Amino acid sequence: MPERAIAHIVIASDHAGFTLKTHIAEHIRARGLPVEDLGPSDETSCDYSDFAHRVAERVAAGAGTAGVLVCGTGIGMSMAANRHEGVRAALCSEPYSARMSREHNDANVLCVGARVIGVALAEAVVDAFLEGAFEGGRHARRVAKIEP
Ligand code: RB5
Repeated sequence: MPERAIAHIVIASDHAGFTLKTHIAEHIRARGLPVEDLGPSDETSCDYSDFAHRVAERVAAGAGTAGVLVCGTGIGMSMAANRHEGVRAALCSEPYSARMSREHNDANVLCVGARVIGVALAEAVVDAFLEGAFEGGRHARRVAKIEP
């Protein structure tokens, strides 16, 4: 299976993830990848599920588009995003899992908990996710079986 490179990132958060989301968006842009911020635009209390669905719909619709979702724990975001067909959201708190989510699971959304990890670790997690490439082969067979 050919490598499916990430060409474009859509990113969103809730109020708890807003500050880290803004930082991650700048970090990804600095790597040369286009980032579209789907909200929110401030730290006013909001519902993570609304923003998870925005990102998941875009990822499901567009080849080459991957998502990043940030809430307090990353848990609600990953639960909501994974309800969308074709979306494989991985909640990661360290770089190894982030890289493996791409290499073995063909993850197309990265979820991060802003109350779980700090800025430096979040950058490392994002870098590992972006640098990981799906290996295909036996993993493609397994990924194909994820959808029930
Ligand atoms: C908001 O308080 C918090 O529940 C949310 O950011 C997230 O952690 C949910 O999974």
